[in-house]
Amino acid sequence: MCEYAFNELCRAKPEWSGEEYAFLNERDMLAFHQALPGYAPTPLLELPALAARLGLAGIFVKDEGQRFGIKAFKALGASYAMYRFLKQRWQERFPEPFTPECFQDRTALKKLGAFTFCAATDGNHGRAVAWTARMLGQKAVIYMPADSVAARVENIRNEGAEVVLVRGTFDLCVERCAAAAAKNGWQAISDTAYPGYRDIPGWILLGYTSIFAELEGLLHGPMKIGVDTVILPAGVGGLAAAGAAYYSKRYGAKRPALICIEPVSSDCFLESVRFGRGEPLPTRGRQTSIMAGLNCGVPSPLAWPFLRDAFPFFLAVGDSWAEQAMRRYAQPLKDDPRIVSGESGSSGLAALLALSSAPKLAAARAKLPLGPNSRVLLVNTEGDTDPENFKKVVGLA
Ligand SMILES: Cc1ncc(COP(=O)(O)O)c(C=O)c1O
Repeated sequence: MCEYAFNELCRAKPEWSGEEYAFLNERDMLAFHQALPGYAPTPLLELPALAARLGLAGIFVKDEGQRFGIKAFKALGASYAMYRFLKQRWQERFPEPFTPECFQDRTALKKLGAFTFCAATDGNHGRAVAWTARMLGQKAVIYMPADSVAARVENIRNEGAEVVLVRGTFDLCVERCAAAAAKNGWQAISDTAYPGYRDIPGWILLGYTSIFAELEGLLHGPMKIGVDTVILPAGVGGLAAAGAAYYSKRYGAKRPALICIEPVSSDCFLESVRFGRGEPLPTRGRQTSIMAGLNCGVPSPLAWPFLRDAFPFFLAVGDSWAEQAMRRYAQPLKDDPRIVSGESGSSGLAALLALSSAPKLAAARAKLPLGPNSRVLLVNTEGDTDPENFKKVVGLA
């Protein structure tokens, strides 16, 4: 199953200006990540045999399944946002600068006192918040839908966090988390924005831009961007917004064609593009996809303008495309490298497979830079975060 829309509101040269968007001028994200213990740029892999099979010049995969040992890109956002939050608190009280080194200095952190950080998650963002809180010696309370995969819950508990299971969707977890933060004086680290709450999701967005910054000099260059198309998944839209902001700011009208991929059962961005007249809309789907990280019912109001202004094409696919992509990554063609990719992680490749073989998408593909000279960048946003389902889907350990 698949649905799509071309976005008539997409601009050649999007610009986000004014006080609201001043945060986009920050430049310290990659340097911050480079100072974290265990930092290494994630691998950039090339799949030439698959590219030939799909009639493309190149397929490149940035493998975030290897990020900081927690198997997903989310650590980039949570760590940077928590750094910026602590830095702000520090600057309110002390004249000395708060550097990335202070972020790991228990003596400096002790001066700031104790915090309880809380977050809502389908798995990866919560694990990233818990991982960062543990690094800081602080508490974390994570809200998850009660039907979350047991391994994902366990991974968060293993980071020392308390997990609160909520009977309902991810969106209800966001509400519960915000209410608990207000009641208990905790600090919410939410990857989605809501009224009166934008700074943290803005910093999370900035943190994700390190994925693209790591490609400068490798795939991208000042004179030549090196890819024609970039496919990015959207849950609440933070990662896709980071791609929109990064490529629009750096490459303007010459940026690659950005394609947004969602599950059909939580296609809030596609719905917004089709029917929203510039405003974000909720999905009409039941949010039941195996692509758990993308099971979000409403766009983050912070992320939405970035996707609306910079993404020309929105696609939603059924779970069988994600399963097919997980298998293709795990059992590659010829000498292509093997990639361990989870359900949400494989969604970019799911989009490419659907665009290459679903008859319903043939006309759409013809209008996109997906021809014999096209080079496509995918981000594998997670590894096997549900190892049992991974084995079941790919048939391998
Ligand atoms: C593996 C994975 N990919 C993609 C996403 C989507 O990111 P965002 O919610 O920022 O759109 C998520 C979100 O949790 C995720 O866990």
